[in-house]
Amino acid sequence: FSEGVLQGKRVVITAGPTREAIDPVRYVSNHSSGKMGYALAIAARNAGASVELISGPVALPVPEGVKYTPVSSAVDMLEAAESSVDQQCDIFIAAAAVADYRPEQVPEQKIKKSQDKMVIELIKNPDIVASIAARKDKPFTVGFAAETQSVIAYAEGKLQKKNLDMIIANDVSDQRIGFNSEDNAVTVLWQGGRESFSLQSKSLLAGNIIDLITSRANYSKN
Ligand code: PMT
Repeated sequence: FSEGVLQGKRVVITAGPTREAIDPVRYVSNHSSGKMGYALAIAARNAGASVELISGPVALPVPEGVKYTPVSSAVDMLEAAESSVDQQCDIFIAAAAVADYRPEQVPEQKIKKSQDKMVIELIKNPDIVASIAARKDKPFTVGFAAETQSVIAYAEGKLQKKNLDMIIANDVSDQRIGFNSEDNAVTVLWQGGRESFSLQSKSLLAGNIIDLITSRANYSKN
């Protein structure tokens, strides 16, 4: 692992799930544990980068030597990401499992049980990684694609549509990899190339991904 290769670079990483309030006591969320994003934050720090980790609610310890910004909803995460990238950002990695939709109306009081059936209307959340990648002076922007079918094709689509420099295709239909697992196996895609990583710990994989980003972004030491 190339120590010091990201010296002087600022890396911003989103991790974990977001929570979208239904009322003051309930929310919509997903099974992201934050393990992948936290492992990336540690690997980037070990490579010498100054790292900000913007995290949804998870049960992991905050990595040492990393700026930590806890958030809850997708809207909070967007705000934190925009202001962090405003400061300076060379590499932006979106490992968070951001809720695509949030309840449109959030009452101030707890919803009482009454009808047998209830409908909660959802509206689309802003796309954080797409918004960072749309900047004029965009950082090297890396996304994940968590898919349960046609994994590579959907990942390829997101690479183009979100204007990313790299996307990490994660088959989350396999229990051994993806949400809340210790290990992962992924295919990383970029314009005109790809590399697959076989089953390994998220921490080992994170180091390999940071190495790949470093060489694709031309930060490798000669
Ligand atoms: O946290 P773990 O338990 O370790 O699990 C890891 C993981 C499976 C969560 C991780 O490897 C992963 O795949 N993260 C992305 C999950 C996801 O939301 O994928 P997506 O295909 O829905 O989104 C595509 C990309 O857009 C992602 O980089 C996502 O962070 C980003 N996005 C999505 C929606 C949104 N509103 N804003 C975003 O920035």
